[in-house]
Amino acid sequence: MSKKIIIAIDGPAGSGKSTAAKNLAKKLGFTYLDTGAMYRAITFLALRSGVSDNRDKIIEIARNSNLTLKTDNGLTRVFSNDEELTDFIRTPEVNSKVSEVSVIPEVRTEMVKIQKRIGEKGNVVAEGRDVTTVVYPNADIKIFLTATIDERAKRRFKEFQAQNQSITLEEVKANLEKRDKIDSSREVSPLRQAPDAFVFDNTGLTPEEDLEFLYNKIIEVIKKS
Ligand code: DC
Repeated sequence: MSKKIIIAIDGPAGSGKSTAAKNLAKKLGFTYLDTGAMYRAITFLALRSGVSDNRDKIIEIARNSNLTLKTDNGLTRVFSNDEELTDFIRTPEVNSKVSEVSVIPEVRTEMVKIQKRIGEKGNVVAEGRDVTTVVYPNADIKIFLTATIDERAKRRFKEFQAQNQSITLEEVKANLEKRDKIDSSREVSPLRQAPDAFVFDNTGLTPEEDLEFLYNKIIEVIKKS
């Protein structure tokens, strides 16, 4: 593959974007870009400083965050000014606040700048809410991944159980519904299907089945281009 390829995957929380993007990147030998991890890192930093309800302070944090990402064995490690935040960004507290932080346009501008820079190097599988629409409008392949709300809640619930987090399935579902609503209805870069995205509902599929289907689809597109 000599051309620099960008594969962009958007979809709601729990749709399996991260797993699919990670697996695809590994199989293709591409860089995996988890854009949600960046919004989570800013949210964590704001919560830690006790300023998660102060818009100006959050913007200041985003501008001074100097975020860098590394992928190790499929896990995205996030650093801010060389401090590793990886273990702190996937908690229920961050989950509850991250949609509110990510509606702030100035925060998005900072994150998109970093994402575009990573994309310039090419051969990237990026996933998020706006990578098919705003970050990489000219991506070679755009995928909108989705699944039913019940399936998505069950997947997230299992993840929390594995981390021994005390939260009920109903709470997980309510949190997902709230985030879906905020992510889709916000004015700046809402989650939406790009008109040229390939829409795929993976309800009932295993991650392996999901990967096989998407990989074949991508290879088909790459061969034609
Ligand atoms: O994919 P995730 O669940 O880790 O994303 C966490 C939150 O970050 C999500 O609720 C919305 C926000 N987000 C965003 O606004 N834009 C992106 N490109 C990625 C994530």
